[in-house]
Amino acid sequence: MTHLQCIVSERFRYTRLLNNFKQNNLAEAVQKNMRDAPRSIPPVFFYDYRGSGLFEEICSLPEYYQTRTETAILQSIRHELSGYLNRQFRLVELGSGSSIKTRCVLDSLPNMCSGAEYVPIDISDSLEDGAGSLLDDYPLLRITGVVDTYEHGLSLVRQMSNMPKLIIFLGSSLGNMSVPESISFLRTIRASMKKSDLLLLGLDMDKDAATLESAYNDSRGVTAKFNLNILYRLNRELNANFNISKFSHYSIYNKSKKRIEMYLKSEVDQTVEVPGAEIIINLKKGELIHTENSQKYTIPHIRSMAADADLRIQRLWHDPAKKFSVTLLSE
Ligand code: AVJ
Repeated sequence: MTHLQCIVSERFRYTRLLNNFKQNNLAEAVQKNMRDAPRSIPPVFFYDYRGSGLFEEICSLPEYYQTRTETAILQSIRHELSGYLNRQFRLVELGSGSSIKTRCVLDSLPNMCSGAEYVPIDISDSLEDGAGSLLDDYPLLRITGVVDTYEHGLSLVRQMSNMPKLIIFLGSSLGNMSVPESISFLRTIRASMKKSDLLLLGLDMDKDAATLESAYNDSRGVTAKFNLNILYRLNRELNANFNISKFSHYSIYNKSKKRIEMYLKSEVDQTVEVPGAEIIINLKKGELIHTENSQKYTIPHIRSMAADADLRIQRLWHDPAKKFSVTLLSE
């Protein structure tokens, strides 16, 4: 048995991947990616309980324009979006998201008054946090959550009843994947879609390096905390002995690849033991551990990704300053 079925109330249930399976994944990922240089830790491991909280904090930072710009777009397109949603829809969200964006989309669903089903899919445990107030504010809403990978969540959704679905993948989360990976992931989403299904994709737009770099190196140091948090997690979950004060946050815009790259920099020559992954790491002063890529997009790039994934663009919206985009796609 790898999953737990939790029935919280009549309107809220979820399926959760058991913790020891997740931990194995962390150990495996660290063993594979941290043994030899160039070292890395996949960004999916940022989102433990504290990491998810720090990410929420990032979303309201003055420098991090993304969340507030995307929310404003979703608010301003509510009526236009309703025009594409004139049936009963099941709302499937990849990443349990910030509940404010979810609410914008729920408010665009015409069947809200007759009841709707919301299926958040998220690897982190924070799913229960937002659920309570959503259930309070939408008395006819039912929530069927999945705490697992997107791929597995989508395969569970495929087994649900036949109601058309609106899949939302917001916050430019796609940008964590390399370009070929994101095309193959879009194909995975596409494979779970039927004729009347829709996909709403939020992507961060390419812009000047200064704006981007300050969004990932904020003056309050929240992004630095978020990045360094992964080392606390390795200490706790894999019994590692990282001395966190000997590492620093480093992020840079890679102009040719149009992406932000985030690293942890070793401030000294040091040796770290990670018993849970059965490795000992020798780090050089200045050595970088790659923790995240965040791809930035242009409209032609969005068009070509959609074409490569065999998805049709129904509509592409952006804010007046073209900082962020929201694209509606169909099979
Ligand atoms: C959730 C992946 C979209 O890349 O902007 C924020 C994560 N990392 N600050 C992003 C993040 C550093 C975020 N995504």
